[in-house]
Amino acid sequence: MKNDAIGVFDSGMGGLTAVQELNRILPNENIIYFGDTARIPYGSRSRETILRYAKEDVAFLRRHKIKMIIAACGTVSSVAAEHPIVTDLPFTGVIAPAIEAACEATRKKRIGIIGTPATIRSGSYIKAIAQTHPDVMVIPQACPLFVHLVENGYTDFHNPVTRLVAEEYLAPIRKENVDVLILGCTHYPVIADLIGDIMGPEVKLISAGAEAAKYAKKCLTEQGLLSDRTEKGRNTYYVSDSTEMFEENARYFLQEEVHGDVFRSDF
Ligand code: DGL
Repeated sequence: MKNDAIGVFDSGMGGLTAVQELNRILPNENIIYFGDTARIPYGSRSRETILRYAKEDVAFLRRHKIKMIIAACGTVSSVAAEHPIVTDLPFTGVIAPAIEAACEATRKKRIGIIGTPATIRSGSYIKAIAQTHPDVMVIPQACPLFVHLVENGYTDFHNPVTRLVAEEYLAPIRKENVDVLILGCTHYPVIADLIGDIMGPEVKLISAGAEAAKYAKKCLTEQGLLSDRTEKGRNTYYVSDSTEMFEENARYFLQEEVHGDVFRSDF
């Protein structure tokens, strides 16, 4: 089992921000990634639909030899917080790892959280912080257009459309004097430089996807499930829509060209 892959999924390409960190901290692991690019966005859908899609994504990953599953999607993680989708394998979403890092980083005990409408509506991050860090104040903000902008490649630091939208979304949080901002959707780190520029240098940004990857390392280490492979691991990507579009945009999330096979799969 040790040398089975880590399964990672997202509604699209956002989960690659977790893969980027996995490649960095666990270079010998094989990774199987599923991006449901045909049905993105999940974040504007109902809880029932998100749960159904998430279960199908998990079922797809289970067709491969995997030792752990990462729901590298803030939206799925928010729904899965109340309806567990994996109980027989090591599993993590992005919420607990992200809040742990954020609560450790905040000095003012004031954290902003941005995510998809479904994530913010679920109150998942706020509820989790209230349970573990009741002294921390959380200021939430939904950013419905970010996923569309990012998936369509509007990610340049100087892009005037993305900047205008970001300034509008971030204005209420800026007023609240936070010192940490959780990028609660795994698509957002791709525009982290722009978000950071608007929030100012004193605000630390936390990438939910990267934190989930760090948590996965901890979890596999504790369970004695780290690969003993000595050569570099292999990444294999599956998407439910065009592989060309995926390969074109994935490099912005991975911050390098895609290494590994990319297949189209309809579940
Ligand atoms: N990457 C997903 C997340 O982290 C959101 C994208 C979507 O709306 O499907 O929430």
